[in-house]
Amino acid sequence: MTAKRLLRFLGMAMVAGVLLAAGGMDRARAEYQGGIGGRWVLYDHHGNIVRDEDFRGRFMLIYFGYTFCPDVCPTGLSTMAEAMDILGDRGDVVQPMFISVDVLRDTPAHLADYVAYFHPRLLGLTGSQEMIDRLTEGYRVQYQIVREPGAEPDNYTIDHTASTYLMGPDGQFLVKFAHGIAPEDMAKRILEILNDFGA
Ligand code: NI
Repeated sequence: MTAKRLLRFLGMAMVAGVLLAAGGMDRARAEYQGGIGGRWVLYDHHGNIVRDEDFRGRFMLIYFGYTFCPDVCPTGLSTMAEAMDILGDRGDVVQPMFISVDVLRDTPAHLADYVAYFHPRLLGLTGSQEMIDRLTEGYRVQYQIVREPGAEPDNYTIDHTASTYLMGPDGQFLVKFAHGIAPEDMAKRILEILNDFGA
């Protein structure tokens, strides 16, 4: 690189730096665009109708699964609960959610007992098959009911995506945490994002 080109490069880098600093929150928002998510209407574990837009201005930390899940969901929800405990008061702007993909068995009453076991702030959500199918499509969550041959209709397991989604104050997708992440790492990343958003 010649001296002249180096100077021009440094000049551009400085301009970019100033633009980035001035971008502030806009930059944080632009960085987290994803095309995952969408509008939804569900029932919470109290039996109330809730909508995604009810959570605008807050962050949604979402785990998809079902209460009869033998070990994947309990592990994922324990991680989420522990991350929330690590965040402490900073997590007040984060709403942890468990959205059931088991519309047949996970009634609001059944969800209420289940979520209370993991965290006092965990919100259980369920809905009709149509609602859940639209929601999982928008969030690109895969699930598949697995029933052994000859089993009773309500005796099945569900293979499902086990990631945890963090959605931002505008309902936009921010980040997906892989199953098996340490609670400390999840909390650390969430805190970084909260700081980015000035939340
Ligand atoms: Ni599960």
